[in-house]
Amino acid sequence: MPHLTAIVAMDPNRLIGADGKLPWHLPEDLAFFKKTTLGHPILMGRKTFESIGRPLPKRKNIVLTRDETWSHEGVEVIHSPDAIAKMEGPIFIIGGAEIYRALSPLIDEWLVSHVHHSYQGDTYLAPFEIDFPKSEEAEGHETFTVKRYLRS
Ligand SMILES: NC(=O)c1ccc[n+]([C@@H]2O[C@H](COP(=O)([O-])OP(=O)(O)OC[C@H]3O[C@@H](n4cnc5c(N)ncnc54)[C@H](OP(=O)(O)O)[C@@H]3O)[C@@H](O)[C@H]2O)c1
Repeated sequence: MPHLTAIVAMDPNRLIGADGKLPWHLPEDLAFFKKTTLGHPILMGRKTFESIGRPLPKRKNIVLTRDETWSHEGVEVIHSPDAIAKMEGPIFIIGGAEIYRALSPLIDEWLVSHVHHSYQGDTYLAPFEIDFPKSEEAEGHETFTVKRYLRS
């Protein structure tokens, strides 16, 4: 089983998405995401992939979809979370809400950018913290603070 790190940015109300996109434009957080995931496989839901619109460079892009006909150049497609067990880690789980929920029992650690400001939107992150009692601040920025959460 690979080591799975979920990486997410959420606001104080647990908002993560708005109308299929990110609710904010925070270049510093995108830079943090890039620095952290570069060189590693990233796994996402089909909706998050469509939102990004292209495979992210210098990372193996894996998309989870139930649609057996779905494909995209430069993307490895899987149809069930069961396929993850055969992969080699570390792998970054990059969302969205449905994927975080579906994979939550498999996730080893969370890397959360806590966005300081509150935004408007429609997609929220389900609570995970109860199973991840150990947390530490990893990075502080002007508009967000990164915390790492571990199971024990
Ligand atoms: N703030 C952040 O850090 C962050 C990160 C990522 C995304 N987001 C935002 O989150 C929103 C998208 O999230 P979302 O929850 O709507 O969609 P999502 O999790 O990106 O994708 C959902 C899709 O994944 C596939 N899927 C889900 N569970 C599956 C399973 N068990 N087996 C096979 N396929 C499965 C299905 O694809 P099919 O319909 O093709 O079958 C489903 O429609 C966007 O607004 C995005 O910008 C935010």
